[in-house]
Amino acid sequence: MTAVIRTVEEWKKVRQVMPGEKLGFVPTMGALHPGHQSLIERSLRENNKTAVSIFVNPTQFNDRSDYEHYPRNDEKDIGLLRDLGVHYVFLPDYRDLYPDNFTVRISETEVSQAMEGASRPGHFDGVLTVVMKLFSIILPDRAYFGEKDYQQYLLVKKMAEALFLPLEVVACPTVRDTDGLALSSRNVLLSAEERTRAALFPQLLKTTGTPQEAAELLKKAGFVVDYVEEAWGRRFGAVRLGKVRLIDNFSLEEIKREV
Ligand code: PAJ
Repeated sequence: MTAVIRTVEEWKKVRQVMPGEKLGFVPTMGALHPGHQSLIERSLRENNKTAVSIFVNPTQFNDRSDYEHYPRNDEKDIGLLRDLGVHYVFLPDYRDLYPDNFTVRISETEVSQAMEGASRPGHFDGVLTVVMKLFSIILPDRAYFGEKDYQQYLLVKKMAEALFLPLEVVACPTVRDTDGLALSSRNVLLSAEERTRAALFPQLLKTTGTPQEAAELLKKAGFVVDYVEEAWGRRFGAVRLGKVRLIDNFSLEEIKREV
């Protein structure tokens, strides 16, 4: 049985009667796809109970139109979560989650400055603040994040360690379509032609040359390149195709194996 919970008060009552159970948590912004599903299935395997949150967090969008066009489909998502056997779905609203109206924020000043942080000012303050709020409300034993957003995973892990949060942050591998494109809620916004071309992004990002060479190849293939950079043993890329921004990353070992 899946319980759908829409307020912090309601969740607190549910959480109080869960003694001795391991609670896994998967925070999402909905428009669920098999990438999200892989995190949820892992949580279901590793914990007695699993909670999934769906909240399109406005404070992490530096672009208003991106927020407005972000795909939303709560009823379909809830149906999928029921089919998967998720125990709790948490769908709070902005006022409930932000009684302070985002005057209280969590900032990290190092990892957050590079790549996604540099391209999207304020993005990681919004992410860390909402994840911290969700952790404080849900009180999970384990929380699951995708390597698709590796910088986000690193930052959440760093926050959990810095603030001595009593939970484990677990990284899960990126789930890809058959042509190699990482699954993302935003992929539905690509036209058919763009979707075909998008498969070149992971292929060219993985090129065995330097990051600069990868960026050149991407430009030649018609992408607007935000960055291609290497850090933490991985290569990261962000490109724009029409109105849609795509991000991806690979470990340097995986790139070496491509030869
Ligand atoms: P969202 O983009 O919905 O992603 C929720 C989780 O699913 C994140 O941990 C993300 O890395 C993971 N994910 C997305 N696509 C994936 C894929 N193809 N393979 C594996 N994992 C994938 O990330 C967010 O939401 C938000 O920033 C959030 C953490 C919920 C805070 O608002």
